[in-house]
Amino acid sequence: MIKEIIYNLRCVNNPCNKNGLTLESLREEGDECIEGFLKCNICDSQFPIIQGVPIVLQNFHEYARRRIITYGKWIVHSKSSKLRDFLRSVGMKIRYPTSNDLYEENNLLYRAYSYNYHNYHFDDRLLSLLKKKIEPDNIYRMLRKKNLDLSGIGLDIGCSFGSSTFELAKRLPFVFGVDLSFSFILEARKIIHDKMLKNVEFIVSDAINLPFESKFFQCIIALNLVDRVNPLKLLDSINSCIKDNGKLILINPYHFVNENNNDQFDSIKIRKIVERHGYLINSNESYIPWIVKMNERSYLFYFVDLIVANRIA
Ligand SMILES: C[S@@+](CC[C@H](N)C(=O)[O-])C[C@H]1O[C@@H](n2cnc3c(N)ncnc32)[C@H](O)[C@@H]1O
Ligand SMILES: [Zn+2]
Repeated sequence: MIKEIIYNLRCVNNPCNKNGLTLESLREEGDECIEGFLKCNICDSQFPIIQGVPIVLQNFHEYARRRIITYGKWIVHSKSSKLRDFLRSVGMKIRYPTSNDLYEENNLLYRAYSYNYHNYHFDDRLLSLLKKKIEPDNIYRMLRKKNLDLSGIGLDIGCSFGSSTFELAKRLPFVFGVDLSFSFILEARKIIHDKMLKNVEFIVSDAINLPFESKFFQCIIALNLVDRVNPLKLLDSINSCIKDNGKLILINPYHFVNENNNDQFDSIKIRKIVERHGYLINSNESYIPWIVKMNERSYLFYFVDLIVANRIA
């Protein structure tokens, strides 16, 4: 974690009302903290920084419980005894561990996004059969459009490997990417180093409880996330940190998954929710092709809708 961003981070626990955090750095490399804690002096919570990844969640214990394979690796890789002791003390309380979440390393959806990021070429079996050329990263490259008029500090919620975050970083002074998957954020941070980028940082955080100061972001995007979380809570969370005239971009296939009971929403209802949260929508409903390659023999095809909205001051 770039140490400088500590000034923009806030506690995610309810009574603290976005209290600022302080950094206890246990291991550093250059201007980054590799192991340490972000601390809140009101609720006394400490949010760990593991392998350079800050994890700013209300319930770290539950987070570890749901990705026990990743949790084991945290302990193996942690070099400072204080972080290791903290992780072990969390582990002592885990009663019913479950193996890794679908978006953690080697699981189904992690592999799909890994394919899309690393191994997807135009001589791909399916793409080469199509009459019309569909580029796998088309939806990320849409963010390059000049008429989107992007400016200021940006946030990409549910960023996975950061494909869209890196697009934003080409245009904005600084961009944060957040995702619940530790494995995605770890990989996204490696890409920052490979590309030697200085204006991007990634954090593990919950989309519906963002750890940022209020009125911080001029531009917030969320691609293919609305169907994974409660849209009403997502909009509340976005409003907790967007600027008064900020821009919101949502891209979605509205492929709702029942576990979140989201199938009651559709494109019209989502647009109404956005408007009721204080936005003016500047785009009509659209059908933009998007393909996710699940493995060598299976693909998901979507038409996504692009919502471009401005927060009314
Ligand atoms: C369908 S994927 C979309 C990824 C990326 N935005 C894209 O379009 O390529 C949904 C992403 O949201 C993340 N996610 C799901 N629930 C989340 C939550 N509550 N908070 C933050 N990220 C979440 C997943 O880990 C995953 O990376
Ligand atoms: Zn606190």
